[in-house]
Amino acid sequence: MTTADYFEKIPNNVDLHEDRRLQRALESWQPNFLSWWESMGPTLPTDDVYLRTAVNVGREGWAHFDHVAMRDYRWGIFLAERNRDRRVAFGQHKDEPVWQKVPGEYRADLQRLIVIQGDTEPASVEQQRNLGAVAPSLYDLRNLFQVNVEEGRHLWAMVYLLHAYFGRDGREEAEELLHRNSGSAESPRILGAFNEETPDWLSFFMFTYFTDRDGKYQLGTLKESAFDPLSRTCEFMLKEESHHMFVGTTGIDRVVERTVQLMLQHDTDDVGPYGGIPLNVIQKYLNFHYSVSLDLFGSETSTNVANYFTSGLKGRWSEERRTDDHRLTDEFIMVDAVTEDGRIGQTEVAALVGLNTDLRREYIGDCQNGVNRWNKILESAGLPQRLRLPHVAFNRKVGAFAGIEATPDGERISPEEWARRKGAWLPTDVDKTHVRSLMRPVHERGKIAAWIAPPRQGINGKPFDYDYVHLA
Ligand SMILES: [Fe+2]
Ligand SMILES: [Fe+2]
Repeated sequence: MTTADYFEKIPNNVDLHEDRRLQRALESWQPNFLSWWESMGPTLPTDDVYLRTAVNVGREGWAHFDHVAMRDYRWGIFLAERNRDRRVAFGQHKDEPVWQKVPGEYRADLQRLIVIQGDTEPASVEQQRNLGAVAPSLYDLRNLFQVNVEEGRHLWAMVYLLHAYFGRDGREEAEELLHRNSGSAESPRILGAFNEETPDWLSFFMFTYFTDRDGKYQLGTLKESAFDPLSRTCEFMLKEESHHMFVGTTGIDRVVERTVQLMLQHDTDDVGPYGGIPLNVIQKYLNFHYSVSLDLFGSETSTNVANYFTSGLKGRWSEERRTDDHRLTDEFIMVDAVTEDGRIGQTEVAALVGLNTDLRREYIGDCQNGVNRWNKILESAGLPQRLRLPHVAFNRKVGAFAGIEATPDGERISPEEWARRKGAWLPTDVDKTHVRSLMRPVHERGKIAAWIAPPRQGINGKPFDYDYVHLA
């Protein structure tokens, strides 16, 4: 494997120094990235943060932990090691060698896929920029910043591909990735969930659980791509992504744990007056973040996605572990639909056009694991309440159910009934105000806010009361 040039201006394992033109192009994008980070990144001033930096991709360890000033973070370009025997695993090019260059006929589609993925990375940094000021502990603050710098690196990963393989169009798209902004009226981010606010830490944990997990599934399909540099880039990004979901999973664990403690201690469901987040409010936040994340998978049927698969641009989750013919030209799948008599049901379509549904189902199965885990906390406390994922038709703005309203049980209701009842299912202004009122900073070593339990372990073997962040 190539060794990493960690001390280059742009750390990388792609032999950037051998391509002076590309190196210069990226070095001229770098100051624009840094000014984006300064103006749209974390607002809380810090001296340094105990961060993980990707320094290589090998098995012997790929990350280095140290206190670093965030503006000096080594955002680098790292691709997983190249497998010289790798072949296309699906579609019409199945078994052919993978591509090291972009085939002309797929150029526009590949560029689009990379731009859409790239757009989500800086978007989440923008959404989370004000959370540091109200972090529940230094440990959590450090995790927030870790997620933020790695999303910044994921932007670098996509920008590298645009610069290296898509010429002038690619360079222009790389600039646009810094110009669109989350929630902006004139130039918003491309996907809906990335224009939503992340105004409090419960939202942040839900976002990292549900929305970063969408990212995991999208990256998983791009990791299968016949375009090998994209595949290798995404494979390495997935490594970093798992920590983001860990932050979400354990964050919600700890909120539920604290809520349970207060419920038992005060013998009530209404833990709000005792400084906790009531279980039904946690459920409403879950309903919201899960449903907007389901929208990210697109329509139940899509001919674009069928074409991406057939051409080898984007595979399925765990493509190699599937036992079918990997071409799917004669297969069918049941997808969610509003039936002819207006009911919420399913309809059969060609498997190729139903691939968004296939991916969404993999995702839903994975989401259920978290819910089971949080319910174990309730169960072992002897409480009868349970959290759950709402029905796939609930609160959808994209796809088959965009035009209808449904309860979390999947019962179709009229728009009037929805308007009347939605406050029971989605966070109301009162709920949001309560959650926000709990968001007071705890920036003291070893201390934690009262609405969340401390973590079981610290980061990289350090204790919870380690000095993870030095504030400016
Ligand atoms: Fe990411
Ligand atoms: Fe992420």
